[in-house]
Amino acid sequence: MKKICIIGVGYVGLVTGTGFADLGNRVVCVDLIEEKIEKLRSGAMPIYEPGLEEMVQRNVQAGRLSFTTSYEEGLGEAEFAFVAVGTPSGEEGQAELNYVRMAARSIADNMKDSLIIVNKSTVPIGTGDTVAEIIRNHRANDCEFSVVSNPEFLREGSAIADFMNPDRIVLGSTDRKAAERVAQLYLPLRAPIIITDLRTAEMIKYASNAFLASRISFINEIASICEELGADIKEVAAGMGYDKRIGHAFLDAGLGFGGSCFPKDVRALAHMASVHGCHPQLLRAVLDINHDQRLKVIRKLRDILGALEGKIIGLLGLAFKPNTDDMREAPSVEIAHLLKAEGAHVRAYDPVAMEVARPILPEVTLCDSPYSLAEGSDAIVVVTEWNEFKHLDLARIKALMREAVVIDGRNIYDPAQLCEMGFAYQGIGRAVGRRTAQIIPPLVGDGTEGDAGHPS
Ligand code: UGA
Repeated sequence: MKKICIIGVGYVGLVTGTGFADLGNRVVCVDLIEEKIEKLRSGAMPIYEPGLEEMVQRNVQAGRLSFTTSYEEGLGEAEFAFVAVGTPSGEEGQAELNYVRMAARSIADNMKDSLIIVNKSTVPIGTGDTVAEIIRNHRANDCEFSVVSNPEFLREGSAIADFMNPDRIVLGSTDRKAAERVAQLYLPLRAPIIITDLRTAEMIKYASNAFLASRISFINEIASICEELGADIKEVAAGMGYDKRIGHAFLDAGLGFGGSCFPKDVRALAHMASVHGCHPQLLRAVLDINHDQRLKVIRKLRDILGALEGKIIGLLGLAFKPNTDDMREAPSVEIAHLLKAEGAHVRAYDPVAMEVARPILPEVTLCDSPYSLAEGSDAIVVVTEWNEFKHLDLARIKALMREAVVIDGRNIYDPAQLCEMGFAYQGIGRAVGRRTAQIIPPLVGDGTEGDAGHPS
């Protein structure tokens, strides 16, 4: 059992702290926002994340997990302090480090004994050194300390499973022993652990997010070409994904990436590159293509409905992706604004994000079901691919709509089926009105034939 302090109770901090508590450690989470800490103490979650509430309660009851607004209390006897505070985008796309600096200063002011400071926030390359400098200059009693970078790869919506089954753990430090002590915390998870230097660890995080974002923009660009040439992007992606060098993940064409990470991290990496004299043309293209995906919805609606002035458009889904109520950089926000600018009336329904969306989109009428959204609408746009949208009674939806128009921004429906039902349907990069591809799995040979495993 190790004693751990987590600083910052956002997604990363709360999931990491709860995960370490579940592995048997004693964890105290610190956040300066009193309301958040009160909420957590009363058993309520500040965010929607499947499975998190039960796990928090279990560990609080077992006495392994607690919450405080006091650094002094949080750092108490801690051997490790994980920094998991936000690094929002600045005006030029750079990651803002105010919260990281404040956390470092507060650690320095309150640490009583030797401490390993583990940075989980996504920070510009070199921030580990900045944190070390702040601690060195302000620590009381000359306490010993080391800084370790430990970037986070959790996805919202599956954060607990990602914590418990990571693909890899990345640790970076100038102090190998400190990195190895952090590695010990992760040993029960049986994941590969990479120990490197601080800057390389920090770059692994940016490069990973930028690569995944690039895959999404790549497939979205191919989707645009498919639309012009009559090919189907879902089948193109499936056909590509069977190549083991390519794989299937992150090849879903759609309205592009949103959330608190990909847009911010790609911008920050591009900014860092420019500041250091590099020319990040691929990263800029990734961002441009992503922005274009939002505009596509408006073009497609105009193609079918003509001018959008006075039209009623229903958005199915508001969250930036399913299984979260997070609205940060969600495509729904820009699409709603663009539609409003065209003079359309915008409605929306989301299974969990409506409370979070209400103050962000005050001009949007929120509906209590997909069916009330459909009633009298001129078009429906699928913005988030929640599972419940995949199984709607489409005949009922069609009967309720004024114009049967569906823009499927996440390619969840079968174009042929919707066209047969009489919808004016447009997906992203979909070929309309053709049979879906047949994928024949390889035959399993019984060992009696020389050529077993290949269909004849
Ligand atoms: C992402 C990374 O996947 C995590 O590894 C990382 O830890 C996290 O950012 C972070 O830096 O904190 P997350 O933002 O939760 O996680 O969401 P993803 O599941 O990666 O999806 C990001 C966006 O890409 C969503 O808007 C999603 O709709 C979009 N996406 C994803 C696509 O448009 N197509 C795809 O094929 C996959």
